[in-house]
Amino acid sequence: MPSHHLTTRLYLAPMEGLGAIEFRKMLAAIGGFDECCTEFIRIPTNPHIASLIKEFNPDATSPIPQAAQLMGVNPGHLAEAAFLLAEKGAHRVELNCGCPSNTVTGKGAGSSLLDTPDLLFEILYQMCKKCPVPVTAKLRIGVDDDLNFIKNIHLVQEAGCKMLTLHARTKKDGYTHPARWDYIKEAKKQLDIPICGNGDITSAESAIDMLQKTGCDHLMIGRQAAKDPLIFHRIQSALKNIPFEENFALLLRGIDVFFYEILKRHSPMGSIKQLASYILSQSPELKKEFLTQTYQTPHEAITSLRTAIDKLFIAQSLGQTA
Ligand SMILES: Cc1cc2nc3c(=O)[nH]c(=O)nc-3n(C[C@H](O)[C@H](O)[C@H](O)COP(=O)(O)O)c2cc1C
Repeated sequence: MPSHHLTTRLYLAPMEGLGAIEFRKMLAAIGGFDECCTEFIRIPTNPHIASLIKEFNPDATSPIPQAAQLMGVNPGHLAEAAFLLAEKGAHRVELNCGCPSNTVTGKGAGSSLLDTPDLLFEILYQMCKKCPVPVTAKLRIGVDDDLNFIKNIHLVQEAGCKMLTLHARTKKDGYTHPARWDYIKEAKKQLDIPICGNGDITSAESAIDMLQKTGCDHLMIGRQAAKDPLIFHRIQSALKNIPFEENFALLLRGIDVFFYEILKRHSPMGSIKQLASYILSQSPELKKEFLTQTYQTPHEAITSLRTAIDKLFIAQSLGQTA
């Protein structure tokens, strides 16, 4: 392992819905990573910016710092929002240039910005100029192709961003096409700012593989953190070249934080089922059994999920599939 990997930082990916604050608090209780980020905060036209960012609390995931992510098209509004977020204590503000949703991209934001490099530059430039803390950008390779890729990654650096995160897929690739790590390697070759590689990290082995194949500085993990919340500890052990020891007690403590937090919601059932479908994905039987049952109350669903997770861990510790 090259020595610079001792400085590799691990980021929990922003994930709208799945990665809501209760999920981020769960992961923060389990730990093993350096930073998380809010889901995108949409800045529409004619915004009342102060009210859009009022929910942001940089300490909500303490001791893991929480950055803020913005999405929008208006350079002035985004710069103002970045400034106000920094005033509220954000240590980093990121621009979302990857969201494929048509409701978002229909208005020119998210991944649509990859097709309008001049606007993308203007937004990032104004954000960097106004915001007193580091501004970063999270890009995909492109919308349908890679024609703007080199231009886009360079303008991120020229605008003054302090890091580029690359989700190594086009918008057209969606989420399931294999991530194209060659583009992460190319970004590392072309730019001086740190590159955070993202896409298809599903194990400690694939994390090390990405570092070695692309030379990227940092790693970002999204969906695997919901399937296996200990993934960051696994990667840390691999980076330090020490054996990983399963820690079910830590995992359960984190999951209990999720249950505690999610019960504060008015309608928590959808979020409980969403987490269940990820965390039980290692056992199709347990997943099906949990998701096909009907629950009268969220508490009932939580008790059932807790039992399913216990069964999963017992089976895993015995080296069986549940
Ligand atoms: C449910 C879901 C919601 C997402 N929401 C966001 C978001 O709000 N902002 C963002 O930049 N990326 C978002 N993403 C993309 C992830 O941050 C990440 O780039 C992508 O999932 C690839 O990483 P992975 O293979 O480790 O999951 C989302 C992904 C998923 C699956």
